[in-house]
Amino acid sequence: MRSMEALRLLFFLLALSAAFADEGAYIGVNIGTALSNMPSPTMVAALLKSQQIRHVRLYDADPAMLAALANTGISVTVSVPNEQLLAVGQSNATAANWVARNVVAHVPAVNITAVAVGSEVLTALPNAAPLLVPALRYIYSALVAANLDRVIKVSTPHSSSVILDSFPPSQAFFNRTLDSVMVPMLKFLQSSGSYLMLNVYPYYDYLQSNGIIPLDYALFRPLPPNKEAVDANTLLHYTNVFDAVVDAAYFAMTYLNITKVPVVVLESGWPHKGDPTTEADATVDNANTYNSNLIRHVLNNTGTPKHPGVPVPTYIYELYDEDLRPGVTSEKFWGLFDATGVPAYNLHLTGSGMLLANDTTNQTFCVAREGADEKLLQAGLDWACGPGKVDCSALTQGQACYDPDSVEAHASYAFNEYYHGLGMASGTCYFSGVAAITTTDPSHDSCLFSGSGGRNGTSLNGTLLAPSSNSTSATSNGAHSFYSKLVLQIIQVLLSGLLFW
Ligand SMILES: *[C@@H]1O[C@H](CO)[C@@H](O)[C@H](O)[C@H]1NC(C)=O
Ligand SMILES: *[C@@H]1O[C@H](CO)[C@@H](O)[C@H](O)[C@H]1NC(C)=O
Ligand SMILES: *[C@@H]1O[C@H](CO)[C@@H](O)[C@H](O)[C@H]1NC(C)=O
Ligand SMILES: *[C@@H]1O[C@H](CO)[C@@H](O)[C@H](O)[C@H]1NC(C)=O
Ligand SMILES: *[C@@H]1O[C@H](CO)[C@@H](O)[C@H](O)[C@H]1NC(C)=O
Ligand SMILES: *[C@@H]1O[C@H](CO)[C@@H](O)[C@H](O)[C@H]1NC(C)=O
Ligand SMILES: *[C@@H]1O[C@H](CO)[C@@H](O)[C@H](O)[C@H]1NC(C)=O
Ligand SMILES: *[C@@H]1O[C@H](CO)[C@@H](O)[C@H](O)[C@H]1NC(C)=O
Ligand SMILES: *[C@@H]1O[C@H](CO)[C@@H](O)[C@H](O)[C@H]1NC(C)=O
Ligand SMILES: *[C@@H]1O[C@H](CO)[C@@H](O)[C@H](O)[C@H]1NC(C)=O
Repeated sequence: MRSMEALRLLFFLLALSAAFADEGAYIGVNIGTALSNMPSPTMVAALLKSQQIRHVRLYDADPAMLAALANTGISVTVSVPNEQLLAVGQSNATAANWVARNVVAHVPAVNITAVAVGSEVLTALPNAAPLLVPALRYIYSALVAANLDRVIKVSTPHSSSVILDSFPPSQAFFNRTLDSVMVPMLKFLQSSGSYLMLNVYPYYDYLQSNGIIPLDYALFRPLPPNKEAVDANTLLHYTNVFDAVVDAAYFAMTYLNITKVPVVVLESGWPHKGDPTTEADATVDNANTYNSNLIRHVLNNTGTPKHPGVPVPTYIYELYDEDLRPGVTSEKFWGLFDATGVPAYNLHLTGSGMLLANDTTNQTFCVAREGADEKLLQAGLDWACGPGKVDCSALTQGQACYDPDSVEAHASYAFNEYYHGLGMASGTCYFSGVAAITTTDPSHDSCLFSGSGGRNGTSLNGTLLAPSSNSTSATSNGAHSFYSKLVLQIIQVLLSGLLFW
């Protein structure tokens, strides 16, 4: 029984690793186009590149946009809009034609990795529900015919409202009225090696909870222990709404015997502006807190309480504020950027590499990665101040950077001096993976970090001999190798456990 559990988890992990090929968790961005001054596709692609955004979802398959994304390495999820679902779901030939025009014509120059068939069809367009599974199958068979079914997944995004009773997550189930579509759809996803696309909006869960869900719980902020949500059936602790919803989806699938379909969050975000009287929580502060915490949470490969360490790739909603969207004020203000590419706010990110960095100053710092192992940090610190030739005098007692006297704070200072001393060259912010690049200036009090307010690093004499400096720098690639190691470790632990049970 324990070994059965372990075996099941092992297979789950292997299935998920296969589903995500060689990729760990990543952050993508949705690109809505309801803007009165929509930037040209070239400008969109330039913004994506400058922000190091490597995964996007389009709501259609606009040929001009796809042309601009060609040869950028950016992976793209294209969509069959709801308006086209009827035609595609009614005719194999129409579906084959759709794939020929919108997928086959653009690969491999455009790295299309998924087709999202419709958008929240079961809740937004219930009349079309009977056509959903045929549409998925037709699109899939056209991809099979084009020999693209291995690299391009077919799925359909759902509103999380199809999951009922999502707290405690272990009791969640899919709205049974939808079973006639949901069950064959999940079987299709499982047999085709695809994933469940889920839209997760803690903002709405919080609003609709009538005060039951604390704002902090929606925003990934720490809760006092007496407010922590514990699932009484599994004793799993939930520290945020996002994890609870993703796990609810896993439990709801398990309830239907679907155990090999991973979850990808296709939309999640928080509006930064709304009607001040009726949408008081749509603020820059909340949006920044939510998206910053979400990005860190996802890239950290924390996984969820039910599946720790299993990546949950997530697409932020959305790239641009869409001023033409109808509805309440906040509908227009979910964007990370305005139409000219100016950020709505500066995300507080460490450990995200250059992703979504405020690029206007182009200034970056190298700091200790959050939650990094203290022994490795100490080793990196010792190395930097020793063989790395960093001037660490500011870290001695009585000097500007002595306080706070912690390994993490001192390592951050030394890592950053090293990084700037070598001209921020690639590979100089690694330190066995415990260092991360950030755009947030870590200077404090009278302790000025190199790169801050014109302070220059002392030029270091040449060598790029940082520990493992031949590894990649701490971009999302770094996160990826971290993930692979983690999964490998889990698998090794499981295997060794199996031998002895
Ligand atoms: C396409 O995207 C996938 C998933 O992000 C990635 O693994 C692959 O390397 C990309 N291919 C190219 C040619 O960029
Ligand atoms: C649909 O088209 C594909 C080729 O695009 C073909 O392999 C498949 O058999 C067709 N299915 C039906 C039901 O006609
Ligand atoms: C379940 O789905 C049906 C059909 O879409 C809908 O009418 C009903 O309101 C849903 N139930 C709940 C509790 O959301
Ligand atoms: C799930 O599998 C179990 C055991 O194989 C079976 O008893 C049960 O009926 C299945 N449930 C569904 C919804 O298929
Ligand atoms: C990152 O992961 C580590 C361990 O996996 C965990 O201790 C830490 O709290 C996580 N940090 C965030 C911001 O989720
Ligand atoms: C980028 O960050 C700097 C420093 O925090 C800030 O002064 C500047 O306004 C930001 N740029 C944008 C476009 O937000
Ligand atoms: C910002 O930095 C990148 C990489 O270091 C460089 O290619 C780019 O030209 C810089 N942009 C500006 C405006 O300095
Ligand atoms: C920093 O370095 C740049 C280029 O080497 C130089 O022009 C600038 O004056 C330096 N600034 C300070 C404060 O030393
Ligand atoms: C750098 O190394 C060269 C040759 O090894 C030496 O001549 C020079 O003095 C060194 N510079 C510094 C600042 O240590
Ligand atoms: C990079 O590191 C690996 C393992 O640490 C080592 O085997 C390899 O020789 C290194 N390559 C270079 C170019 O230093």
